[in-house]
Amino acid sequence: MIPMKNILKALPFALAAALAAGCYSCPKVLPAIAPDREVEAKVEKVLKGMTLQEKAGQMVQLSIMLVENETHDDVDPAKMDVIFGKYKIGSILNVMNDQAASREKTADFISKIQESSMKHIGIPCIYGLDMIHGATYLIDGSFYPQEINLAATFNREYAAMMGRAMAYETRAAQCPWVFSPVMDLGRDPRWPRQWESFGEDPYLQAEMARTETIAIQGTDPNHIDLEHAAVSIKHFMGYGVPHTGKDRTPAYIVENDLREKFFRPFKECFQAGALTAMVNSASINGVPTHANKTLLTGWVKEQLGWDGMLVTDWADIDNLFTRDHVAADKREALALGINAGIDMIMDPYDPECCNVIIDLVKGGEVPMARIDDAVRRILRLKVRLGLFENPTWERAYPEFASETFAKESFAAAVESEILLKNEGILPLKGTERILVCGPNANSLRTLNGGWSYTWQGEGDAFAPQYNTILEALQARFPNVSYEPGVLYDNARMNWQDEDASGIGRAITAARGADVIIACVGENTYCETPGNMDDLNLSANQKVLVKGLAASGKPVILVLNEGRPRIIGDIEPLVKAVVDVMLPSNHGGDALAALLAGDENFSGKLPFTYSKHINSLHTYDYKVSEHREVMGGSYNYDAIMDVQWPFGFGLSYTTFAYSDLVLESPADFKAGDMLKLSVKVTNTGTRAGKEAVLLYSSDLVASLVPDVKRLRGFEKIALEPGETKTVTFEVPAHELAFVGADGKWRLEKGDFRLSCGGLGVMARCTETKVWETPNI
Ligand code: BGC
Repeated sequence: MIPMKNILKALPFALAAALAAGCYSCPKVLPAIAPDREVEAKVEKVLKGMTLQEKAGQMVQLSIMLVENETHDDVDPAKMDVIFGKYKIGSILNVMNDQAASREKTADFISKIQESSMKHIGIPCIYGLDMIHGATYLIDGSFYPQEINLAATFNREYAAMMGRAMAYETRAAQCPWVFSPVMDLGRDPRWPRQWESFGEDPYLQAEMARTETIAIQGTDPNHIDLEHAAVSIKHFMGYGVPHTGKDRTPAYIVENDLREKFFRPFKECFQAGALTAMVNSASINGVPTHANKTLLTGWVKEQLGWDGMLVTDWADIDNLFTRDHVAADKREALALGINAGIDMIMDPYDPECCNVIIDLVKGGEVPMARIDDAVRRILRLKVRLGLFENPTWERAYPEFASETFAKESFAAAVESEILLKNEGILPLKGTERILVCGPNANSLRTLNGGWSYTWQGEGDAFAPQYNTILEALQARFPNVSYEPGVLYDNARMNWQDEDASGIGRAITAARGADVIIACVGENTYCETPGNMDDLNLSANQKVLVKGLAASGKPVILVLNEGRPRIIGDIEPLVKAVVDVMLPSNHGGDALAALLAGDENFSGKLPFTYSKHINSLHTYDYKVSEHREVMGGSYNYDAIMDVQWPFGFGLSYTTFAYSDLVLESPADFKAGDMLKLSVKVTNTGTRAGKEAVLLYSSDLVASLVPDVKRLRGFEKIALEPGETKTVTFEVPAHELAFVGADGKWRLEKGDFRLSCGGLGVMARCTETKVWETPNI
């Protein structure tokens, strides 16, 4: 959290700023980020001296491609003279030649860009990179498991560790801005970006993303030091539930859900000081988010009093006319977006965009006050980052790519890989003849996923020092053989060996094995290239698993995938299932340690693992969706038959829950704090960690209630026989929901609070409806 003393210090100034006349979007509430007098003075001073050309230029962000030389290995000074000298461009993004570069190389070209920007404009450029799971666009950077894995740890410490390392290493490469964390609710497994975020639940998403935001930026958003960077929380908002499941296609979200579930994580991050946000590429209820003034200006800037900067996603102003047809041309699209609240336009290939902005101002289609407001927000970001004083910086970064970061990444991978089934076969004894199969067995890129050394995930050659699953198993066990069965054709992003002879070889090899580890799942992808038409695990992999199982040898199924591919027909054939998702460079070693029993499993699903292609669920379904919950006089055939529910995950030990106690009075009102405690005992013979999850259920409400909602989680470590008491504090207003009228309401009546299969009742004695849009 932002220290209270900073808030208090800034309070009188903030209120004065709120009352100041002439401000384009005056905060009507206590600002999300308390403004700092010196920062604001500096911003005003710079703004005063700027020409319209300079202001328009600051609002545009271009791809590095526009200043690269012919051989794509350095910047071209002549091109920079045009981009900064003529167009006065304010920001550059991305990596050269579309692939990660070394820290030195990156620092070198960003420094040259800064020199050119300072020489031509006198204002520093802000460089931005997609650092998604660590310093992922640096060849020598530290990678952590993808966010979906961090969510599975249910351990906030890993979000903090990854955020800190990501910011530190990004700064070490002279880059002050990361397009992270991703915090779209991944509520539809068909969507190809589910793995980029912290899963399907708003509370888990909010907790992890807020923790990561603070770790990346530090605790004082007005003064970001040289070990921290600015975040761009993304993609604001509702991006994760496209109606068709395809990337960047329209979503239809009722407004109360939008406020209650989708906005919640973003609100937490804005209020924790997130300095920038990137906007959702797609549309919600027919309105492209880039043109949605209600959301961009209304909900974020005005209702939260947020003075940060909104950047578009890739070429999304163009999409307003080329794809969405809500504008006739670029001119109309730009006016629409800027007037809706966009401050910086990521227009990767078109510096002429600046001149259209100038024209729009001259033609009166965009008020000068809106331009000044946008530029103020951009300058404020640059001042807060200290870029005016230090456009580049000389400093040692001794922890860059350190052993500490590598150990954290390994530990995060261990806590994130999820044991979903174990019919007494794991841990392995170690002496078995192990046959390793499957297209994911000997592939590092599939452990990393997209947004790694490259956008789509290619790049194993950059990281020969890390083990694939096969290599890690060979290092850990004495008797490991390998017959892949099927293989990805990385060049075509498809399959090799379509004649099935590989499957035959694997099945033959099974005869000589005691146990088979089948590593299946997906090849890497990201964004639109990850679209698909069938959530089932691919047919050839299913044939492989069925063939292996038919050999009579026990099969351990390892799922290495970015979204839960349907495996309902092969799951009954195997003895154990582990979902490693995308655990990154240390994920193979982590899996070997877990299968050997050197480490214990403690990951739990941060999404619902569906079983049937036509029944894709989330855990917080409506009570009337499942006949066992709804009761009633109709015998609906509505069931929640999932493969594994949200929050599910096994361990080599067992835990018993007891004494769930509501410590605070059972009768409560909106302003009260609910206090609960529960005892958890390790009843097995191994040490283990347990994610303790607290849920609430509103038993009767004026809108059909969700069956349950996650309200708290804690990860604890227990030795065999040990008992710990876990306590939770839940502000009663957290149990409120947003009604059909868009207002938050906590209604009189009974609530059930549950944890580890135990439940206690509490009763709200007074209905409260909030008139403010956020609570
Ligand atoms: C993605 C963003 C990313 C941006 C810049 C877009 O295609 O949707 O997540 O930050 O590109 O690379």
